[in-house]
Amino acid sequence: LVLVACGLGAILVIRLWNGTALDTTGEVAFANRLAIPPLAQSRLDERGRRIFELTAEESSHDFGGQRVPTWGFNGEYLGPTLRANRGEQVVVNVHNGLAEPTTVHWHGMHLPATMDGGPHQPIPPGQTWSPTWKIDQPAATLWYHPHPHGETAQHVYRGLAGMFLLDDGQTALPSTYGVDDIPLIVQDKQFDDGRLDESKSVLGDVGVLGDTIAVNGVTGPYLEVSTSLVRLRLLNASNARVYRFGLADDRDFQLVATDGGLLETPFTTNGIQLAPGERAEIVVGLRAGETAVLRSGPQDLGIGALGDRFVGGHDRLDILQLRAAPTLAPSAPVPGKLAEIARLDPKQAAQSRQFRVQARTINGRKMDMSRVDATVVKGTTELWTLTNNDGTPHSFHLHDVQFQVVKVGGSGPPPQLRGWKDTVFLRTGEPVQVIARFADYSDPNTPYMFHCHVLLHEDEGMMGQFVVVEPGQQAGQVHSH
Ligand code: C2O
Ligand code: CU
Repeated sequence: LVLVACGLGAILVIRLWNGTALDTTGEVAFANRLAIPPLAQSRLDERGRRIFELTAEESSHDFGGQRVPTWGFNGEYLGPTLRANRGEQVVVNVHNGLAEPTTVHWHGMHLPATMDGGPHQPIPPGQTWSPTWKIDQPAATLWYHPHPHGETAQHVYRGLAGMFLLDDGQTALPSTYGVDDIPLIVQDKQFDDGRLDESKSVLGDVGVLGDTIAVNGVTGPYLEVSTSLVRLRLLNASNARVYRFGLADDRDFQLVATDGGLLETPFTTNGIQLAPGERAEIVVGLRAGETAVLRSGPQDLGIGALGDRFVGGHDRLDILQLRAAPTLAPSAPVPGKLAEIARLDPKQAAQSRQFRVQARTINGRKMDMSRVDATVVKGTTELWTLTNNDGTPHSFHLHDVQFQVVKVGGSGPPPQLRGWKDTVFLRTGEPVQVIARFADYSDPNTPYMFHCHVLLHEDEGMMGQFVVVEPGQQAGQVHSH
């Protein structure tokens, strides 16, 4: 009996392994030209404010062979790229053309809580919400997406997401949008019966995992490159999947920026892991006439090779083919010094906090719209220790401010975690310590969020709220809507 049980167990394990160990190497035809999200039109009003218009609407979209119902901003799927300069005052008129409430959150943006677009700023159907704020942070690849309480996974999966690029004066990096500076919104999709399948993965604990990769809403994409260096702005806008991006031939590239902006110096590597919500800018060198494939290789998610499979781990997923022209315009080399990053000092921290994520809770509590989980004093620095206490990967995202990673496990951060971050991957049992300064904005009555960016986890309660108050002030009354 024991033998039989073992045998069945082994067969089950093998079946699960084969069923979930995705490998698309050589199978993707790369027959569809990569779409570049259009730059959003904007105008300046009489006060010099830059005004954007976004409308969330129902539509349908052809991902490259099949047209399925989708949602999009100002179009079929995803949204235009918003772009603004440091120091500018922006206004975004967000119109909700859907049949249900939604919100739009500016992921990575430093701004007042009432402008943040989290669950406390719902936009009823047919209405327009017009947040305004001053761009006051370094150049970076940020993004925007809905954040309605309990519904974020669906709204993003159906197509509501876009990039928000910030500029900050001159750059020596490739910077011609759509030519040598390429936004890549990477998502995994599951197509079933002529629709996007939104159901949870059968085995996993992370929500929908698709077997098909779409980049900027295109499956099997290729990009024609005409310069010797190309800058790729990678955004993991997937609901749950974690990628480790690299080139199929394992060549080195230069990592130049992470979530909140440029690294101090480029980091030469052959792979960069991005959990949901994270971004990276990489500069890839190409030889004239060659093709190269951007691919996601095996990632160590920290729960063992088999366990990883159930939560979105994969062997190899082909992402994008780069087709270099027969002759390439020479690009300026990547500068050896990219930015100045003043290190925040843990000894100056006014407060240390622990956040343990486990089973759809943070510190044992599920999200409650009317509860304040942390009260932070404006202008102070805080040290937060983030621990993954269960056997599922999580990525921890903090609203309002960018943080610095102080420690991963017992050690200092690796080069890819030394820049500004707003989202960080948490391996099981490996605490990540981060430090942030909560400057500029306070509002005792309107919370910001912190949460897991695996969207099913967020929706099911792995989220908490903090308010920023003036010195001596108490947190006020926050309301559920
Ligand atoms: Cu990208 Cu609170 O989210
Ligand atoms: Cu999670």
